Amino acid sequence: MIRNQWYAILESNEVHRGKPVGVTRMGEKLVAWRDSDGKVTVMVDRCPHRGVALSAGAVHGNNIWCPFHGFEFDASGRCTVIPANGREAPVPKAFQVRTYPAHEAHGFIFIYWGEADGEVGLPRWFEDLDDSFSYGSARDPWHAHYSRVIENQLDVPHVPFIHHNTIGRGGRTVMDGPWVEWQGPDRFFVRTAMRPEDGVPARSAKEMAPPDKPFHLEFIFPNLWQNWISDKVRVVAAFAPVDEENTMLYLRFYQNFMRTPGVRGFINSTSMIFNTIVARQDRRVVQTQRPMRSDLRIGEKLIPGDGPIIAYRRRRQELIDAAQQAADRNARRAGALAIEVN
Ligand code: FES
Ligand SMILES: [Fe+2]
Repeated sequence: MIRNQWYAILESNEVHRGKPVGVTRMGEKLVAWRDSDGKVTVMVDRCPHRGVALSAGAVHGNNIWCPFHGFEFDASGRCTVIPANGREAPVPKAFQVRTYPAHEAHGFIFIYWGEADGEVGLPRWFEDLDDSFSYGSARDPWHAHYSRVIENQLDVPHVPFIHHNTIGRGGRTVMDGPWVEWQGPDRFFVRTAMRPEDGVPARSAKEMAPPDKPFHLEFIFPNLWQNWISDKVRVVAAFAPVDEENTMLYLRFYQNFMRTPGVRGFINSTSMIFNTIVARQDRRVVQTQRPMRSDLRIGEKLIPGDGPIIAYRRRRQELIDAAQQAADRNARRAGALAIEVN
């Protein structure tokens, strides 16, 4: 997993006021809870006292309470009260719970996962997906590393095979392109042209112009994807890494052609039935991929149609390396500091 990134990790409606929610993301046990104003906090789900899960506790006002000995923690993770010491006794700084910067937008809860030393900005989103859209959503747990789930959504040549009876009808098995276009360092667009086998080998992106159709895929690092079907219809996915072998897929159908309440909800939720069937066709196959985690050099023999996957792998590796360098710098700085102190 790439550190120092904003990840969509939960949907807003999974975290209710007054009740902490325990969840595993990026291999860590986390607790998400809302204060009395509804603001979300996401912190490590382990009491610094004796290791109890804070998600088994309760939220009172703007604090989360550990169920074991009633220690209270505020939204910054600071322990404010140790009841057994007396409410007026000072609390040592060491009783701090690690908290991740959290941001709620577009019906998702994002956390900045990594070392937030400095300005972390805000999570990115799809620029042309505005409030005129409404959506239906589904959650689907996959027994797969999130990199494999993402790559599946960037993989177009699989469509006529896995989805031969749904979105891949028509036997368009030959893929011209693909055209991968970056917009900034962490967002890219993919266009492809699929056609039935006609004896003409696939043409590369250099050999022909991209199709004159607006349909495309968009990916935003580290874990957001949009299938731009038309200016009024989209499918969006967020790939929340659970651990090294599991991913929670958040899938949404967005549209803005029907805005009448009720009818709108009906269209959105019935569309999600179809989208979930399509995603299950993918899941059955992707779960069998080995190694579970994708990487730049895992010995796979790729084809030109895998261009978007190669783009993803390269940038992912760059971001992993950049995060590692930042961690090394921090470690050196901490080491230098320790020497100075001694
Ligand atoms: S374990 Fe949490 S207060 Fe003791
Ligand atoms: Fe698929």
